[in-house]
Amino acid sequence: MNPATLIPTADALTVPWGWFQFLLMLTFPLHLFAMNAMLGTALTAFICHLRPERAYQELSHELARALPFIMAFTINLGVAPLLFVNVLYGHLFYTSSIMMGLFWLAVIPILIIAYYLAYIYDFKFDKLGNLARFAILVVLLFLMAVGFLFSNNMTMMLSPASWLRWFAEPGGTLLNLADPALLPRYLHMMIGALAVGGLCVALYSSTVLKHDAGVAEAGTRLGMQLFTLLTGLQILIGAVFLLMLPAEVMKRFIGNNILATGLLATGVLLAIASLVTSYRRNITATLCLVIPLIYVMAFMRDSVRTGYLEPYFDMATVPVNVQWSPLVFFLVILVLGLVVIAWMLSRLRGVKKVG
Ligand code: HEM
Repeated sequence: MNPATLIPTADALTVPWGWFQFLLMLTFPLHLFAMNAMLGTALTAFICHLRPERAYQELSHELARALPFIMAFTINLGVAPLLFVNVLYGHLFYTSSIMMGLFWLAVIPILIIAYYLAYIYDFKFDKLGNLARFAILVVLLFLMAVGFLFSNNMTMMLSPASWLRWFAEPGGTLLNLADPALLPRYLHMMIGALAVGGLCVALYSSTVLKHDAGVAEAGTRLGMQLFTLLTGLQILIGAVFLLMLPAEVMKRFIGNNILATGLLATGVLLAIASLVTSYRRNITATLCLVIPLIYVMAFMRDSVRTGYLEPYFDMATVPVNVQWSPLVFFLVILVLGLVVIAWMLSRLRGVKKVG
């Protein structure tokens, strides 16, 4: 059977696809930033439990307080890209979501348990004693499991050929484990997240926690060490990921597509430069390199998606029935929402200072 015949017809768009693509590429990296901070905070808090010094115990308590906030941001900042992925790739994304339905629905209970545990870790930090380290380890593993399920869905939706398995296994239990690029992709995502998360911890410690010099120093040192170590490892994992991509997709990055090749070169240069600055413990310079790096990686990931879909789907062929009002309404709500979030954050800072 020709797998292309399994692909449902794409729904008509209400504005030209470039608008949705722009909004997807604007909002997805925001989800990534928050997700990175969340995973890095959880890992650093766990490592702190393995160190007996007072500064590390205090640091884990401070990170326990921050974690539920960062989780809320990660989940909420995931909603916007989810909407745009649905609009642009709904016919592919819904199909793969149904094929792995059991696992996909499991994301919700896994997240609820992780969220609940993160609150227990925060509110009952002192009472938990030695159990605290297990609580935060479970939170970290559950969150990484959610990331794994996302990687499965985001890759399975790109491979209609893998959908043929559904006829033999229609129970919603399919994953994309046979794809050789899945594991390197997931590791690339997770190691990058934990590295950038380490940088976030260093930034948080050196700014918000600077009232306690010992804690600030412990957080800055640990966070920057994590960033340097994991980013070094990432260069290797990233190369393996590139090599594991289907040949036609990989070739986009080594000359077949000027934009993709330029993105890869820029990404590698930014990563190497960030290694140098993090080795020198320069948080600001590292951050200035990592923010564009994450955007570059998000665009590369999008180019991978286009490469995978080239034989099956061309966005430019989707019909457009122009209706501007929903987009305008969305943009107005988006701006209002951002203003409210900025206001809430400013209030939160005020509360912390008083406390
Ligand atoms: C809190 C735990 C979460 C973690 C650790 C996480 C992690 C990830 C990872 C690793 C990816 C990339 C997968 C890949 O391409 O291989 C991803 C993509 C994505 N995540 Fe999350 N995620 C989480 C929660 C959420 C939630 C709750 C939402 C929605 C409300 C969401 C929305 C998205 C979307 C839409 C994408 C794909 C965007 C695109 O393909 O352009 N995430 N996430």
